[in-house]
Amino acid sequence: MKQWLWGIWALITLGLGGYYGHTLLLAENKSALLIGQATHGHYQIELACSSCHTSAFGGGEVLQNACVDCHGDELKAAHDSHPRKKFTDPRNADLLQIIDARQCVSCHNEHQREQTHAMGVTLPDDYCYHCHKEVGQNRASHKDLPFDSCASAGCHNYHDNRALYEDFLVANAQGDWLKALNQLAEPNRSARNAQKHWPPLSNQANAQASAEQQAHAQITADWALSAHAQAQVSCVGCHNDGQGQWLAKPALAQCQSCHQDESAEFLQSKHGMRLAAGLTPMTPAHSDALAFHEQAQHSEQSCNSCHQPHRQDTRHAAASACLACHNDEHSANYWASPHGQITQQALDGQRPWSEAVTCATCHLPRVVTNKQGVTSNAAELAEANASGKNTAQVAVLHNQNITLRPNEKMLRPVCMSCHSLPFAIDALADEALLNNNFSGPPAVHVPSVDWAVERAK
Ligand code: HEC
Ligand code: HEC
Ligand code: HEC
Ligand code: HEC
Ligand code: HEC
Ligand code: HEC
Ligand code: HEC
Ligand code: HEC
Ligand code: HEC
Ligand code: HEC
Repeated sequence: MKQWLWGIWALITLGLGGYYGHTLLLAENKSALLIGQATHGHYQIELACSSCHTSAFGGGEVLQNACVDCHGDELKAAHDSHPRKKFTDPRNADLLQIIDARQCVSCHNEHQREQTHAMGVTLPDDYCYHCHKEVGQNRASHKDLPFDSCASAGCHNYHDNRALYEDFLVANAQGDWLKALNQLAEPNRSARNAQKHWPPLSNQANAQASAEQQAHAQITADWALSAHAQAQVSCVGCHNDGQGQWLAKPALAQCQSCHQDESAEFLQSKHGMRLAAGLTPMTPAHSDALAFHEQAQHSEQSCNSCHQPHRQDTRHAAASACLACHNDEHSANYWASPHGQITQQALDGQRPWSEAVTCATCHLPRVVTNKQGVTSNAAELAEANASGKNTAQVAVLHNQNITLRPNEKMLRPVCMSCHSLPFAIDALADEALLNNNFSGPPAVHVPSVDWAVERAK
């Protein structure tokens, strides 16, 4: 096993720590401390030092708590396969000598982007070896597999194995590659109308509201056809500064007062993370990782970057709005893909809209939440409803990063609504399909389902 790589890894970790420690004592200008650019997931907020260093640069426990504060719920929801409690078990103590898996920073260090692999991982790729050396002896199928393939071949993840555990693979091994259409559940969650606690508008503000309506016939006509008008959310439902005055430019705070869950999810996502850290809104110009349209470089992220203020046309929000900003190869290939063509036909009225497979179908999926916080797909919703426990609510998940990486996270809440598990696993492992936005059948095959079925015989 590449011992020399591990040697270098240890040296870099210790060496950088020493450098930082030294600079920390001497430097007066904080930004000078940031010699190493933060990882792909965090550079957007790297200048908000205190989002991670929550108390004057306290050590390990402070950072650990910060990680868990922002990511704990997500890992819990993912049924993390290697939770901290597995390693506080004394029987596993010897496993911690090389990688102290109780600490997030053992595997996800910061400020050393050159050493960082995909998903913020700062370990050499064969790290599973240290704790699972014997797997080749215990399973014939694993005999000669290289350890850097465990988590890169579409078979396992370190944390999120919701769609990859053996029983699940066996139970879903059969089925046509494409199920019936119309599989997606309709959103049914209601806005929580927190605004009723806001004070009523002053007379002067009410007078202004009427004047605005008269002066802006098109806005008033658009609004009259919107879900807001139907739900009796009037102009002042949004144009309200919270102190009884007319507000010319409603923003996140206004939307948030009624749509709390969507707002919380948005703030945890790449789109909203800068706002959550107290920085200016995210724009394409902040990104050093993705390609965007030139004219969108300074478009700021808010609810209204996808939802037009007075129409809230969710069909527009689901694809056209995204493509006003995003222009990487995958995004740009969308309209020509089979999913994109179905969506175009639905927009043209040749198919029901319920058959469309939009950017949002995959990235802002409609998920079912029940009291346990479980998220799942339409088939599982039908099951929940049939069981008589009709507590499930369907809502649009507004954090696109929850299902993004590792990409097997999309299997259960998204692909499996319409495709079989084996087909979707193969498609997600095919790099060319990711780039061309799934235009054509998969050209790679992930053997894990076959192995699981073989073992279960
Ligand atoms: C996304 C979280 C995050 C942000 C934001 C962040 N850091 Fe860090 N920082 C870390 C982590 C993780 C370590 C590594 C700690 C370790 O190795 O134990 C670290 C280490 C350091 C160290 C080395 C000393 C130590 O405590 O171990 C310094 C100095 C430092 N950061 C400064 C900064 C400054 C200055 C900023 C803002 C300009 C900043 N950091 C922003 C996560 C962050
Ligand atoms: C202030 C909130 C916040 C804190 C604190 C924080 N993160 Fe993050 N982290 C984010 C956001 C937002 C993202 C980007 C969206 C996403 O991938 O979920 C992210 C992304 C990540 C990613 C995925 C990177 C990728 O490229 O896919 C990892 C891994 C990660 N964080 C680990 C950590 C660890 C370890 C710590 C503690 C040292 C930490 N985070 C602290 C908010 C935070
Ligand atoms: C033993 C190494 C290890 C430790 C410890 C670890 N991670 Fe990870 N983490 C990984 C690897 C490897 C990935 C890449 C995706 C995968 O294989 O699951 C990852 C991915 C992630 C991601 C992005 C993708 C996802 O699955 O959500 C987040 C967020 C994350 N880790 C947060 C954390 C936090 C927070 C902690 C501490 C509570 C932590 N990790 C502890 C190895 C580790
Ligand atoms: C720091 C040690 C450590 C590392 C690194 C590690 N594991 Fe584990 N893993 C464990 C422990 C401990 C268990 C629990 C064993 C048990 O309960 O018998 C476990 C359980 C598992 C299981 C059993 C199924 C489950 O979900 O509970 C699988 C599969 C697995 N690990 C795969 C991996 C893969 C793949 C990697 C690398 C991406 C990895 N592990 C990295 C320690 C580790
Ligand atoms: C769902 C919330 C919401 C409702 C309801 C709403 N608006 Fe707006 N309105 C907004 C937002 C958001 C903006 C854009 C603010 C900005 O530009 O930053 C806006 C902008 C405006 C503008 C400025 C437009 C421009 O082009 O500069 C006017 C005028 C206006 N609204 C009038 C109205 C009238 C009249 C009604 C009722 C018929 C109404 N609004 C209902 C959210 C709302
Ligand atoms: C006074 C409360 C209130 C405010 C403020 C508010 N909304 Fe709504 N919104 C509602 C209600 C009620 C509905 C009807 C459906 C429901 O119950 O969720 C709705 C529906 C929606 C829908 C679904 C439209 C559809 O056709 O299905 C979107 C999108 C939306 N709002 C976005 C926003 C945005 C963006 C803002 C801020 C500019 C905002 N809302 C402000 C109460 C509000
Ligand atoms: C990246 C684009 C995007 C952003 C930003 C965005 N939305 Fe949405 N939103 C959508 C799409 C697309 C849908 C409809 C998806 C569908 O029908 O499957 C939607 C649906 C909704 C709905 C109706 C479904 C539900 O879950 O209740 C509400 C309400 C809503 N959004 C509110 C908001 C609010 C509030 C914000 C700001 C915090 C926001 N959205 C930001 C794209 C976005
Ligand atoms: C106003 C411009 C804008 C709009 C509109 C927009 N995005 Fe984004 N999007 C961004 C920016 C900026 C980022 C952050 C890139 C970064 O962190 O490097 C981002 C990040 C993302 C990411 C995460 C990429 C990653 O590597 O973590 C996904 C997925 C995404 N957007 C999908 C969508 C979808 C789907 C829509 C429409 C429903 C949409 N976006 C609408 C600007 C936009
Ligand atoms: C059938 C599902 C599906 C559809 C439809 C889809 N995507 Fe994706 N998208 C994915 C998957 C899976 C990934 C993860 C690729 C990976 O592993 O890096 C991804 C990645 C991305 C990324 C991150 C790219 C990167 O290089 O890191 C962005 C941004 C994005 N998609 C935007 C969009 C936009 C915008 C649309 C619509 C025009 C869209 N996607 C349509 C499934 C989809
Ligand atoms: C709402 C249903 C739906 C969802 C969700 C969905 N798809 Fe599809 N997918 C389809 C339909 C319908 C087709 C086109 C079938 C045709 O052209 O006859 C298709 C086609 C494809 C193709 C092209 C197959 C070929 O032979 O040309 C691939 C690859 C694919 N999907 C992968 C995925 C992946 C991966 C996911 C999850 C990230 C996913 N799809 C999510 C409905 C869906």
